[in-house]
Amino acid sequence: MDLTEMIAALEQALALSPDNAPLRLQLAALCMNADRWSDAEMHYKQVLINNPQDQKAKLGLARLFQRTDRLSAAIVIYDELYDRGVRDPELLLAYSRALVRDGSDNRAQQVYMELVAKAPNMADDELDSLFRLSGREVGDIEDGDDNDALDRLLIKPDVKFADVGGMDGVKKEIALKIIMPFRQPDLYKAYNKKAGGGILLYGPPGCGKTFIAKATAGEIDARFVSVGISDVLDMWIGNSEKNLAGIFGAARENTPCVLFFDEIDALGANRGHMKHSGGRHLINQFLSELDGTGSTNEGILIMGATNAPWHMDPAFRRPGRFDRIIFVPPPDQEGRKRILDLLLRGMPADDVDTASIAKVTDGFSGADLKGLIDACVEDKLADAFSSGKPEPITTRDMRKAAGRLRPTTREWFNSAKNYALYANDGGLYDEILKYMK
Ligand SMILES: Nc1ncnc2c1ncn2[C@@H]1O[C@H](COP(=O)(O)OP(=O)(O)OP(=O)(O)O)[C@@H](O)[C@H]1O
Ligand SMILES: [Mg+2]
Repeated sequence: MDLTEMIAALEQALALSPDNAPLRLQLAALCMNADRWSDAEMHYKQVLINNPQDQKAKLGLARLFQRTDRLSAAIVIYDELYDRGVRDPELLLAYSRALVRDGSDNRAQQVYMELVAKAPNMADDELDSLFRLSGREVGDIEDGDDNDALDRLLIKPDVKFADVGGMDGVKKEIALKIIMPFRQPDLYKAYNKKAGGGILLYGPPGCGKTFIAKATAGEIDARFVSVGISDVLDMWIGNSEKNLAGIFGAARENTPCVLFFDEIDALGANRGHMKHSGGRHLINQFLSELDGTGSTNEGILIMGATNAPWHMDPAFRRPGRFDRIIFVPPPDQEGRKRILDLLLRGMPADDVDTASIAKVTDGFSGADLKGLIDACVEDKLADAFSSGKPEPITTRDMRKAAGRLRPTTREWFNSAKNYALYANDGGLYDEILKYMK
C-alpha cells in the first residue's frame, strides 16, 4: 500500500468515527510524510479542539511548524511540553534540532544528551557530530528496545470477576467456554472437544468488555496481553517492533495468558471492503496466527472486543478462531445496583440506597454509572470548597445527578438495530433484537 492509498484508507476509517483521536493522529502523521501540510495541520488542530492537552497532537503540530519554517511557533510548543516534564524521545530529538537552528546550542545539547541517555537508538548523526559525541558513548547503552515495546503490552491484572458488577451471563459463558477448557483440558479431550479458539465480545460502549477481559486474566491468575488500537495502527504503518508475529510470540512465551485484542474491528476489517492489499495481507497474517499455523496457541486464551462486529471479516468467525460470539448488553437493574455498590467502595458515601438509583438509570452503561458518581463527587467538592467541610455522597445527590445525565448506549442500539434486522448472518445478532424488545 503506498502513502496515498494509506491516507485514503485512514480517511475512510475516520469518516466512520470522526472522534477517534488515535486514528486522526495517525492520519495527520501520514499527511506530514506526504508533505500535505495543511491537511496535517487541520487534523492536529481538530484533535486539540476535542482535547486541548493532547500531547501527541501538540508534538505533531510543533513538528509541522518546524517543517514549514515557523520555527519560533514550534519552539514555544516544545518549551511548554518540555517544561511540563514530557520526555518523549521524539520530542527531545525534534526540540534539540529546533534549538540548534535557533542558535541555542547549549540548551540543544542538554536536551540531546537527555535523548541519548533515554533512547540511544535514536541518536542522530548530525547532532552527534555537532556535539562531538563518540560513537562508543552513544552505542554503549543500546539494545533491548524491541522487547520493551512488547513488555509494555504485558500486565498482571489485579481485578477478578468479583470486581465486575452484573454481567452474570457473560461471566458464565466465559467460564464455560474458555476458563473450564483451560483448567480441565483432559475432560474436554474425553469428549473429543478441542480447547482453543477465541471469544469475541461485542456491544455498546462502556458496558465492560475491556474490563471483563482483564478480569478473565485476573480470575485465572494469568498474564494479560492487551493489544489496543494504537498498536494495531502501528502494524498498519509497518512499524516492525510490534508486528503481529511478535505479539503472538510474546504471548506464547508468557503462557498462561489472555491475549486480548481491543477494538478488533480495526484489525479484522472485512477484506472484501478493502481496496488495499496491505490490509488484506495483515488480516491473512492475523488469521494464520489465530490458527496457530507453524506453532501452537496452547495456554493462550484469545479474546477480542468490538462495538462493530459487522465490520469484521467473516473469516474470523470460522471454527477455531473467534467462534464464540458474546453480546455484552447494558447492565440490568440488578447489575446496575451491583456496579454502583462496587464503584462506591471506599468512597465517602452515606449508606446510599443504590437499589433506588438502579431503578432510575435504565440504559446506563457501567461507564455511565461511573460518570454519575464522578458528577456527584464534583458537586460535593464544589460544596466542600465553599463550606470548608467534605460531606459524604447521599442518595439524593445521586438521584439528582441521574436526572441530569443521559445514557450513552441508546445511540449504539439505533445503528446496531439495522445490522441486526438487515445483515443478521444466520441469526448472529438475534440477541440485539431480543434485548431491544
Ligand atoms: N460491569 C461493570 N462493573 C464495574 N465497573 C464497570 C462495569 N462495566 C463498566 N464498568 C466501568 O466502566 C469503565 C468502562 O468499561 P469498559 O472500558 O470495560 O467498557 P467497554 O465495553 O470496553 O467500552 P468500549 O466499547 O467503549 O471500549 C470500566 O473501566 C469500569 O470502571
Ligand atoms: Mg473497551
